[in-house]
Amino acid sequence: VYPDASFASKKVAKRIANLIIAKNEKGEKTILGLATGATPIKVYAELIRLHREEGLSFENVITFNLDEYYPMKPDAAQSYVTFMNENLFDHIDIKKENIHIPDGTLKQENVAAFCLEYEKKISSYGGLDLQVLGIGRTGHIGFNEPGSAPNSGTRLVTLDDLTRRDASHDFGGKENVPVKAITMGIGTIFKAREIILMAWNYKKASIIKKAVEGEISSDVPATYLQLSENVEFVLDEEAAAELT
Ligand code: F6R
Repeated sequence: VYPDASFASKKVAKRIANLIIAKNEKGEKTILGLATGATPIKVYAELIRLHREEGLSFENVITFNLDEYYPMKPDAAQSYVTFMNENLFDHIDIKKENIHIPDGTLKQENVAAFCLEYEKKISSYGGLDLQVLGIGRTGHIGFNEPGSAPNSGTRLVTLDDLTRRDASHDFGGKENVPVKAITMGIGTIFKAREIILMAWNYKKASIIKKAVEGEISSDVPATYLQLSENVEFVLDEEAAAELT
């Protein structure tokens, strides 16, 4: 628990940078799982600063984003492609071919094959070294909403009503928020060698209490993280306020 989100975000960015540097020294690539949303923005801003001012290179970094709305055009303002470009990728030296984000433009009949391929691609790089997560007020990680199975893989899911309400501001009304999304599964996330879940603000305090101290249940998918040895929650004081 850190005093505020800015300080905590710098710590997380530093860990990511140190991982990239250590991997580089061994001549290895770093495989990162990334999240969108408000939570990681300051981490990405700090990574951009480390790139610009301290020479951190992303040349040997491969990224896999957690999710994308479905359907979604990559150049739409609300797409996670646009989000990632604006908040990170356009400002660092990552190679375009090393960026992976679920494809919101696929025909529905092609989605299942794409999802299998996404899993295979992650495995082909030896799995995720580090997965960065936020948490939704439904307890979702990625877009694994209540009811998601612990061994779920990348797939097409239906968004919870609360998730669509929370996104309504970005879309100018809940009715414009896509009903579905493609997301990595809980099982996909679990395979990462390190998982960092971040949450800031009092608005996340009650779901953080459930995720950390509640009974493990598909009603709050983030509770599955209690079963992993490789998870760390990084919180500000407000998000941690209800923890015992
Ligand atoms: C985003 C994602 C979601 C968000 C969560 C929190 O890629 O997978 O699980 O992390 O909805 O969103 P924010 O950070 O906007 O509160």
